[in-house]
Amino acid sequence: MKGIILAGGSGTRLYPVTQGISKQLMPIYDKPMIFYPLSTLIQAGITEILIITTPEDSQNFTRLLGDGAHLGISLSYAVQDQPLGLAHAFIIGADFVGDDSVALVLGDNIFHGITFDELDDVDGGLVFAYEVSDPQRYGVVEFDASGHALSIEEKPTHPLSSYAVVGLYFYDNTVLDIAQNISPSQRGELEITAINEEYLRRGKLQVRKLSPGNVWLDTGTFDSMSEAAAYVEVLQKRTGQVIGSPEVAAFEHGLISAAQLSQLAQPYMKSGYGVLLEKVAAGDKD
Ligand code: G1P
Repeated sequence: MKGIILAGGSGTRLYPVTQGISKQLMPIYDKPMIFYPLSTLIQAGITEILIITTPEDSQNFTRLLGDGAHLGISLSYAVQDQPLGLAHAFIIGADFVGDDSVALVLGDNIFHGITFDELDDVDGGLVFAYEVSDPQRYGVVEFDASGHALSIEEKPTHPLSSYAVVGLYFYDNTVLDIAQNISPSQRGELEITAINEEYLRRGKLQVRKLSPGNVWLDTGTFDSMSEAAAYVEVLQKRTGQVIGSPEVAAFEHGLISAAQLSQLAQPYMKSGYGVLLEKVAAGDKD
């Protein structure tokens, strides 16, 4: 299975901050936002990853993450010239995906405490729903009494449930065809919801509810960004564990050794991030 991180978009909900820098390079407490979705893909066992950025910020992402060799993975890059929607990722990334299945994660989504592995042989589409207090901000899924998905609607004014579709999607290879054949929404974007609706129409969409004990945060507004930063800060300080570290995810998946992890920690010792990595490398679980 291949992975795509979508880190394009104009980030207008964070203007003027994102007029000068890509949203996904901004910090969530002690690390750039993109570290979190990158860790999620690595934790899901995905090692070939395409990062889609705006043309202006492409070099900054390359400077930050390189070719991924230091993490034992392969990172490649593509640009999205205009914000044409999330599903556009499957048009930009079609050659990269080839004949494979694919996971798409949004560059501003943070997951914690959820294991997404063993999803390699997905048949159709697999998405996750999370109960939120403000569903109108998201794609919203309606369930029947037995828990089967009935409909999915993008940012509805009158949501039919409080279950938001989270920004991590697993699809079989037919997603490439589906993406070619959906029409832009009223706001002129190829919506990921249109892809999910098509899988649903074909009877090929699984929607799994995440439990409230799992943590899903998005960081698309100032409030949600500072709440996510507070969450990471509190949990890391309280437990000494690191959240959203691609280095630690790579180590835990056996992609790099403890010695390599320790080496990766060195440039970060002054910021404290390196201290957390060193702790993991030393096998210190306290
Ligand atoms: C996007 C999707 C939406 C999904 C959300 C998750 O919205 O369009 O369906 O629920 O991501 O973060 P956006 O945040 O790009 O407005």
